[in-house]
Parts: sequence; C-alpha cells; structure tokens
Amino acid sequence: MTVESVNPETRAEPATELREPPLAGGGVPLLGHGWKLARDPLAFMAQLRDHGDVVRIKLGPKTVYAVTTPALTGALALSPDYHIAGPLWESLEGLLGKEGVATANGPLHRRQRRTIQPAFKLDAIPAYGPIMEEEAHALTERWQPGRTIDATSESFRVAVRVAARCLLRGQYMDERAERLCVALATVFRGMYRRMVVPLGPLYRLPLPANREFNSALADLHLLVDEIIAERRASGQKPDDLLTALLEAKDDNGDPIGEQEIHDQVVAILTPGSETIASTIMWLLQALAEHPEHTDRIRDEVEAVTGGRPVAFEDVRKLTHTANVIVEAMRLRPAVWVLTRRAVVDTELGDYRIPAGSDIIYSPYAIQRDPKSYAAHLEFDPDRWLPERVKDLPKYAMRPFSLGNRKCPSDHFSMAQLTLITAALATKYRFEQVPGSNDAVRVGITLRPHDLLVRPVAR
Ligand code: HEM
Repeated sequence: MTVESVNPETRAEPATELREPPLAGGGVPLLGHGWKLARDPLAFMAQLRDHGDVVRIKLGPKTVYAVTTPALTGALALSPDYHIAGPLWESLEGLLGKEGVATANGPLHRRQRRTIQPAFKLDAIPAYGPIMEEEAHALTERWQPGRTIDATSESFRVAVRVAARCLLRGQYMDERAERLCVALATVFRGMYRRMVVPLGPLYRLPLPANREFNSALADLHLLVDEIIAERRASGQKPDDLLTALLEAKDDNGDPIGEQEIHDQVVAILTPGSETIASTIMWLLQALAEHPEHTDRIRDEVEAVTGGRPVAFEDVRKLTHTANVIVEAMRLRPAVWVLTRRAVVDTELGDYRIPAGSDIIYSPYAIQRDPKSYAAHLEFDPDRWLPERVKDLPKYAMRPFSLGNRKCPSDHFSMAQLTLITAALATKYRFEQVPGSNDAVRVGITLRPHDLLVRPVAR
C-alpha cells in the first residue's frame, strides 16, 4: 500500500463565488450547539446533513465547520490545506505525545510515515500470519462454551497482543502484552472521561480514580521504555517496526531522538489496540444478533478449509466474512469522528473556509446516510457484493480514511479481524446474556457499553 500523496495540482480551482456555509439550526445563546453535541453526539452529527454540505456550528464562542457529504470528506482528506489538529487531536496529545506519527504534521509526519510504512505494506502482512492465526485460535480455546465472556477486556487483550507481538516482536512480548493491555484499558477509560467531562483541575486531585489513571499512564510509558531498552540491550535487529524506528534517521541523517522513538511506539500501539478492540466488540454483537451470518461464515470457512483450522492463506477467500466485518464497521465505525484544521484560507465545495478554522466530520454519519445506502440502518453484509457495491458514492465508506493520514494498518487490521471472526464463528454461535448492555458508548471510539456474550458450542 502506498500513502496517497497530495499533489498540489489536485487542489480545486477557486470557485467563482465562495459562500459562507449556513449556520446549523438549534443553537442556544452562549453554548451554541455544544450542549446538543455533548448530549447525543451521534444524532447531532447525523442531522447536520439536513442543513447543508458544509455547515457552521457554534461550540461556545468558537465556530467549527462540519462536513456532511462523502464527496467533501474525500476532498478534505486529500487537500494539502488541512492539517491534523482540532479538539480530538488536542485531547489525544496528552496520551500520544507530540512527536508520534498520529499527531505530527508536515515534514516530520512525512518522514515518520516513510519509517513505519514498510511494516504495514501488503507484502509485509504474511509474515504476521502465524501470530495472527495463533492468537485467533487461542481465543477459541480460552473461551469455553456456556461461560460468559466480558467482550471489552477480551477484545482489548487480543488486539494489544496482536499489535505488540507482530510489530514489536520478541520473546518477552507475551508478558508485556498483558501489562500493556491492563495499562491501556485504564488509560482509555480515563481519556474518555476527560474528553466528555472536561473538569480540568479536578483530574489533578489525589482521588482514587485519578491515581489509577496516572499510574496506568506512567506504566504505559514505562513499558514502552522497557521494550525499547531491552531490544537495544539484546543487540538483535529483527525485521520489524521497532527496528525500523530505532534505526530511523532525521532529515539531516542523524538518529532520531529518544522522545520521538518513544512517542512513535505509543502512537502506533494505542490507536492500533483501541480501534481493533472496539471493532471486535461490535463483531461479537453482530454475530450474536445475526446468527444466520455466523452460520454463513462457518459454512464459508469450511468450504475454504475443508475442516482444518482457518489459516492466514485463507483470508482473501473469505469474502462473506470480510463483508460481515465491513458491514459491522459501516454501522459502528470505531473511529466515528475526525477533525482537521485549515492552515490557509481555503475552500470546500462552494464554501469559504478561513485559515485556522477547525473542521469536523463523522464517518458514522457518512456511513449511515440514506442518500448513499438503501435500507441504511439495516445490517446487510451482502450490500458489499461486487454487483451491489458499484452503486455506492465515492468516499461513502472509508473507515480507514484516505489521503496522507490514511490508517497505515488497513491490510493488517482486515487480516486479523478476518482470522478472529472466522475462527470464532467456526467453533461457536454467540448470544448476549442477561446484564449485557450493547448500547453505543461514545468515547474516543464507539463501543458497546458493557457487552457480555456466551459462546454456544456448535
Ligand atoms: C479497525 C481497525 C482500525 C480502524 C478503523 C482505524 C482507523 C483509522 C483512521 C480513520 C485513521 C485516520 C485518522 C485521520 O484521518 O485523522 C487512522 C490512523 C492511524 N492508524 Fe488506524 N485504524 C485501525 C487500526 C489500526 C491499527 C491496528 C494500527 C497499528 C497497529 C493503526 C495505526 C494507525 C496510525 C499510526 C494512524 C496515524 C496515521 C497518520 O496520521 O499518518 N490503526 N486509523
């Protein structure tokens, strides 16, 4: 996979007459639309499309531009006039650092993408196959028929293990992956709270929840330092992402600094685990809710494997399994909101966007737009069959985004999600148990509040 480069020549010609985007209705004095956004962010983002292609919303005194059509979200992602910035990224900086690939911009970001890209290229993925297979089958062994599974912790666990074991290889990784898992789960919970209830100084008080958050964050950073130090001490240089980061040079040909190496590891592990974990949770929910698709996956896997355990080499033949995953990601995208900032006076469609403006859009809203999708709220994996998918508007389904900030891990993610889904559906059906709450919890990602499922043996 190559990073789609942004060619200045692809910049849109200035439209003859640029307009100011309309103001979305429903704002109130002082708070603007903030209260609606806070109260029900998904519904708020989805209804903005009724007000225009680009609309202004007021968050307190601040004007933010919301983009509501697939075509314009594509134009935004491909334009060189916007950088990664805005409220989402500012809230993540405390966790991801300022020198990692997810938050850097400009030449630093381009150099960092060049360093990490080889580890995620399509031809690099087969090398991760054995670990992905092992982790997928280990889940089916670990889960017992009839025993309730806490989908949140189990999904997190496997996501962290796969990312850590594949990308930061090493004998020591198994025990570390467990610790990473515990630290990340607590950190993400705390980040979510800090994002939705921004009580600033209150989070510095020595309360048990704050102490737990601070200690998990410290442990996460300590773990990353330990992983780096141990790799260096081993003198080994396996062909993996960590070696690529340790050997990376800056634009002057000098080794990159310690802080940058550290931030890079954090900036790859954290988005890598939270997004995959949320997607696995939604897949389990979908398998429980639509047993007919669980059975179709089982039939497909058996037709491909002839009954042997599913393996990495089968992944590209498991088309229905992939369609179930894509449909789960359409309705419940882990990354439900993205923000950018205009770095120059620019435009989107026919609208004027002043330099410094924050732009927001929601893949969740785009992927549920009835103008793009017939029966838009229905779970219908067959909508991804080649003969049906051709009618889809461009950019109506980009769960990994596009342009120079596109997720580097799309192939890596699809391979592991396919193996996990195939292995689980072959061995079990799933049902939610009393006490399970699969309502959407909006945080840094979308995930079920508290999904509890029971595997039922076939
Ligand atoms: C279902 C799984 C995943 C989804 C839906 C997803 C989605 C995304 C999206 C939408 C972006 C772009 C953000 C933007 O445009 O502002 C992104 C960026 C990123 N993702 Fe993923 N991701 C997934 C898995 C992973 C994994 C497994 C890893 C690493 C192991 C990863 C690493 C990254 C990194 C490093 C970036 C920042 C790229 C940059 O800014 O150049 N992601 N991801």
